[in-house]
Amino acid sequence: MSRHTPVMSVMVAAARKAARGLQRDFGEVENLQVSMKGPGDFVSAADKKAEKILFEELSKARPGYAFLMEEGGAIEGSDKSHRWIIDPLDGTTNFLHGIPQFAISIGLERDGQMVAGLVYNPVTDEMFLAEKGQGAFLNDRRIRVAVRRELNQAVVGCGTPNIGRPDHEGYIAELRQVMLEVAGVRRMGAASLDLAYVAAGRFDAYWEANLSPWDMAAGIVLVREAGGFVSDLHGREEMLKTGGILAGNEMLHGQLAKVLKRARASA
Ligand code: IPD
Ligand code: CA
Ligand code: CA
Repeated sequence: MSRHTPVMSVMVAAARKAARGLQRDFGEVENLQVSMKGPGDFVSAADKKAEKILFEELSKARPGYAFLMEEGGAIEGSDKSHRWIIDPLDGTTNFLHGIPQFAISIGLERDGQMVAGLVYNPVTDEMFLAEKGQGAFLNDRRIRVAVRRELNQAVVGCGTPNIGRPDHEGYIAELRQVMLEVAGVRRMGAASLDLAYVAAGRFDAYWEANLSPWDMAAGIVLVREAGGFVSDLHGREEMLKTGGILAGNEMLHGQLAKVLKRARASA
């Protein structure tokens, strides 16, 4: 899209500025694998630097808006209707391992509803952008969810709970059932990009549980503006509260919801 709405321009400028540091730091990660301090600290510093830039830029452009950020937590604003929901680096494990699948994610909520979303992968320079009522875009190109109607032709993204996270058994039951019914399952490691991939029709559907609001806030707008369906894992709209999310086109969203329900029931 050559002409951004004012709010999109604000988000794009903030993301591009924060991305410069992430890009530089990503280039350094390989050397750090052998450093004394270890790459973990380095990555969390990169994360915090990016978040600081996003916070400064967005506060400057939209004074008074509230924030919910992965690192800095909740910051109240004088404006009671608007809130930025931000993950400065989604896909930390990928970043740490030199895998170029990570993103900056910025969502904007107005009166409790997600109204704008940006997901930007600085390595591939892919900028996914959407605003309510304006459609969804990848760089300047309009994107739509995939049109596939059959689960057995679908490529489905997901997230797996890592060490120390709850519900491994329930997840394995879901995965077993989904694997039996779809063309392929993918676990890419950055929830914001998983949702952006659904919006762009690369994934036919995606589900994950136990996410945080900043993992999915922007992606929800992207999928909806690309013509897709998003719900929590119970078919309601409580994604940010429950941490569960299921996204896809209308047909596959419904079909996958049934598969997941069946899997849980038989677990
Ligand atoms: C994580 C990624 C991952 C998802 C995790 C998230 P982080 O975010 O989005 O794909 O499975 O649940 O915590 O920690 O890399 O910002
Ligand atoms: Ca995240
Ligand atoms: Ca993060």
